Amino acid sequence: MNFIFLGPQASGKGTQAILLSKKLSTPHISTGDIFREAIKKGDELGKTLQSYIEAGNLVPDDLTNKTIEKRLRENDIKNGFILDGFPRTIDQAEFLDKIIQINKVIDIQISDKEAVHRISSRRSCACGKTYNLLYNPPKKENICDLCGAELFVRSDDKPESVKIRLETYHQKTKPLVDYYKEKNILITIDGERPIETIYEDIINKISK
Ligand code: AP5
Repeated sequence: MNFIFLGPQASGKGTQAILLSKKLSTPHISTGDIFREAIKKGDELGKTLQSYIEAGNLVPDDLTNKTIEKRLRENDIKNGFILDGFPRTIDQAEFLDKIIQINKVIDIQISDKEAVHRISSRRSCACGKTYNLLYNPPKKENICDLCGAELFVRSDDKPESVKIRLETYHQKTKPLVDYYKEKNILITIDGERPIETIYEDIINKISK
């Protein structure tokens, strides 16, 4: 099965995608993580990506589409994959339709107020795992439970970038809800519940 996680910033796309990826043993593909890895290289491409992401803007569609097309050519996706953060525009969704079939789109919904609240207490790890100091803190202060690395605050989690990211979500990404509803593959999930409850709900709904 090929899945997409859709939803506003901090709705828990990454959190739930990692859990589902472990259960199904299929790769978790996050465009945000791919871009952050590219930024670490510090080359021209990395600098360009950084300028978009830190300001809270989307990376242009042509660059994002090429990135995902390259990733979906790899062998590990043969038994399915989980896309987290792609597509984010109608252009990207139409591009994806041309290269691969998607079986289910899991749309996790939270309010903007909750998104801002969660982002202010998020801590991230380079391995992809995220924590929340209020709801799911790491066992050891500022250290990742999974890989032992030091946690950090994402550079695009500053309030001015978060405001732009949420506005962009409503303008460019929210229309994808109707796009996938029309295709009859949309699953809607209430994201303002505990992580384990949401995970069980997702497992139940994708099994139907
Ligand atoms: P990306 O990394 O994808 O960021 P995002 O979409 O803004 O999503 P987040 O990572 O903020 O949230 P999430 O929904 O994954 O939530 P999480 O599980 O972390 O993209 C970053 C940037 O890259 C974009 O802004 C853009 O510039 C660029 N980009 C990426 N994809 C692109 C594309 N397709 N096109 C163009 N540009 C693109 O959880 C958030 C917090 O809440 C954590 O602290 C977590 O522990 C906590 N939490 C999770 N679930 C719960 C819960 N149920 N209750 C309480 N707390 C919870």
